Amino acid sequence: MEKLNEYLSKYKGYVFADHMLLVEHIDSLQNFEIRDSDVFLVTYPKSGTIWTQNIIMSICDSECTDETEFPNNLEKMPWLEYPQGHTDYSTRASPRFFASHLSTALMPPGLREKKPKIVYVARNPKDVAVSYFHFCRAWTQLETPRSFQEFLQEFIAGEVGGSSWFDHIRDWYTHRDDFNILFLMYEDMVMDLKTAVEKMSRFLGRDLNAEAVSLVVDKSTFKNMKKDPKANYEFLPEDVIQGKFMRKGTVGDWKNTFTVAQSEMFDEIYQEKMKDLPLKFIWDIE
Ligand code: A3P
Repeated sequence: MEKLNEYLSKYKGYVFADHMLLVEHIDSLQNFEIRDSDVFLVTYPKSGTIWTQNIIMSICDSECTDETEFPNNLEKMPWLEYPQGHTDYSTRASPRFFASHLSTALMPPGLREKKPKIVYVARNPKDVAVSYFHFCRAWTQLETPRSFQEFLQEFIAGEVGGSSWFDHIRDWYTHRDDFNILFLMYEDMVMDLKTAVEKMSRFLGRDLNAEAVSLVVDKSTFKNMKKDPKANYEFLPEDVIQGKFMRKGTVGDWKNTFTVAQSEMFDEIYQEKMKDLPLKFIWDIE
């Protein structure tokens, strides 16, 4: 393990927020037994993870109704990489749900053999950078960036929890045929949530009727999630997060933060790093 600074460490080529890293736990994932019925949500940080977690859990609600055992989505769909007190998931009833920001190499190898369902959500990196910048300021256990300029440099260099956005997208996109993946874009979800919910429910093998789809859509709009104390992580101790987790939930908010020079510099790096990938991101919607 290599310590990068007071807040971050690198392990097996991946940058972790220090307070969350337990090396033995990450190693143990190499022997983590996968079930065909498992469902994984994989994202780079700030790409709509909690949103998609909310959607998946709403779609699968009837299979996971024990509110006393799992009082919130964090318990229903725990983070694979962060031990949350009870890491022996082998005794959990199926279907199990997990969220993760890890790279393919750190994931349980069984994901390639058993082919459980993986939902991957990608978001345009300028909005990710701005969202991440605000998140670092709200989340007290992460380093508070001195300026957006400083944060942007770290983000581009991959010196943030979750490593490089560029590496994450490339890694999961180029390995997508090794897994059973539904690849979604945050921006498509913003523009047409109903279609995204239908896609997810079909992929998850839980074909919902029109009425059930609209219930899930309604529960998952930004407006309704913003009002939901659980979606805002209000069950966490007050000193962990200052302010609301649901911030803006829009496409193109980066324009309010990036200067023209920062945007041009980013575009150049983006072109260089992404030129051989056929992915097309949506940078703004009017
Ligand atoms: P912003 O900071 O741009 O508002 P993650 O869950 O991966 O950390 O991603 C957080 C981002 O998803 C935040 O973006 C948050 O507001 C946005 N988000 C959460 N719920 C959403 C929803 N229902 N609709 C749209 N965006 C949502």
